[in-house]
Amino acid sequence: MATDVMDDGSAEPATAPPPGAKGPLVYRQSIFTRVTHWVWAVAMFFLLLSGLQIWNAHPVLYIGQQSGFEFENSILEIGAENTPDGPRGFTTLFGQKFDTTGLLGMSTLNGQPNYVGFPSWATIPSVRDLATGRVVHFFFAWILVATLAVWLLASLVNRHLWRDIILKPRDLRDLPRDIWDHLRFRFEHRRRYSPLQKLAYFIVLVGLFPLIILTGLAMSPGMNAAWPWQIEIFGGRQTARTIHFVAMMGFVIFFVVHVAMVVLAGPLNELRSMVTGWYRVSPGMENDK
Ligand code: HEM
Repeated sequence: MATDVMDDGSAEPATAPPPGAKGPLVYRQSIFTRVTHWVWAVAMFFLLLSGLQIWNAHPVLYIGQQSGFEFENSILEIGAENTPDGPRGFTTLFGQKFDTTGLLGMSTLNGQPNYVGFPSWATIPSVRDLATGRVVHFFFAWILVATLAVWLLASLVNRHLWRDIILKPRDLRDLPRDIWDHLRFRFEHRRRYSPLQKLAYFIVLVGLFPLIILTGLAMSPGMNAAWPWQIEIFGGRQTARTIHFVAMMGFVIFFVVHVAMVVLAGPLNELRSMVTGWYRVSPGMENDK
């Protein structure tokens, strides 16, 4: 098919392709990108659910170095209390109290009331078991760190980081139009990521992953002994714990949007690229690197 080169350097079909026309398959994802992606997707699943188990041991978040009866520095608390209507679950966020019976603070396990922060279906193990939760969490934490190290090394060598993740001036210029296209569910299938995709993956890979790992390490007594300055950088142990939790919520939001985008953009094509490496681009986009 004849192509024109657009002013942003990309190739566009000179004439509109016939409806239903398919573009060619192009090699999009290297073996390192694919394997590391699925390893960290599995690791994140276990980290999230075992993390909620650990968090349930003390379902309160604070800002500062310390917590205790003499401090008033909590920003989030999940619990249960007796009320004239019987026991209820509550969540207090920045002083605002909400009744969250059934989900947070008080839920059910095997038909019985269960007085825990996050419900049993959201934790590993599902029953209260801090020791097992910690073993699972730390095991997958090191899997995640090792996987990211492999991803970083491979992405530096095969230039995936520079080519596909780091935003260039052209991406920043095209970003508003790409946001508008996403809002209208208009997706173009190119070899390269769209500016918004690059931004999302950049935030995850260069922002959220390092943040969640460093705040996790800052909570480790062994690391505190070796690098006491690390906990100071995050404003104290309790603030590090709060940042760790907020980063986790960032991942949950990313995950929901990410999977929704995969479904909306064409799940078979998207998943094929993340499993086999091959991606079907829109007609006329085969030369658009
Ligand atoms: C917490 C779990 C997950 C995280 C943190 C995550 C993160 C990411 C990141 C950072 C990338 C870009 C990778 C790179 O280019 O090096 C990516 C790509 C991708 N992810 Fe995930 N992902 C997760 C789960 C999933 C799941 C469950 C699916 C399947 C529905 C999925 C499908 C994909 C696909 C298809 C791509 C390639 C997108 C494209 O080529 O346009 N991801 N993911």
